[in-house]
Amino acid sequence: MAVLRFPKQDRRIDDEVEIRAALAPLGIDYERWSLDRVSADASADAVLAAYSDEIDEMKRRGGYVKADVIDVNPATPNLESMLARFDKEHTHDEDEVRFILSGRGIFFLHIDGRVASVEVGPGDMLCVPRGTTHWFTLCEDRRIRAIRWFQDTAGWTPHYTDSGVDQSFKPLCFGLAYLGPRLGSTISA
Ligand SMILES: [Fe+2]
Repeated sequence: MAVLRFPKQDRRIDDEVEIRAALAPLGIDYERWSLDRVSADASADAVLAAYSDEIDEMKRRGGYVKADVIDVNPATPNLESMLARFDKEHTHDEDEVRFILSGRGIFFLHIDGRVASVEVGPGDMLCVPRGTTHWFTLCEDRRIRAIRWFQDTAGWTPHYTDSGVDQSFKPLCFGLAYLGPRLGSTISA
């Protein structure tokens, strides 16, 4: 379950419906999907097969051509340098779409002069549209597994704004690092 915060306004939202309602006007899609399709230790191929309906539906909705599974943990080589590519404010030429299978991380979204943070965890699907200024980092346990969608893998390159805005926000995680409630899919097959 996600935690949405507007740090400067000291506002925090934990409710799924309220999070979706608050993010929609910012152009950010947020959904909760079922986690019970595969076991936590399923292979990437098994994950992609189990979520093939959702993957295809997202491709139709967003024009994505490819999906994969990213798996990051403290044993990932060059983890800190990898994270350092994305923890400064940037944009992409394509949408950043993630369905979180396990682990937690924080997207900071800088939209219309205001910064919102979305801490995502298991079962959360977030779509950050292309061109949105944002940055991302993992929670303390440095662990995340997620399905990603791509329109064009070349669009994944971060374009840094060098605004320095990211410097004034601490990546505090509030959610629990456990598998959240198993909710029904919000996408029809
Ligand atoms: Fe990004």
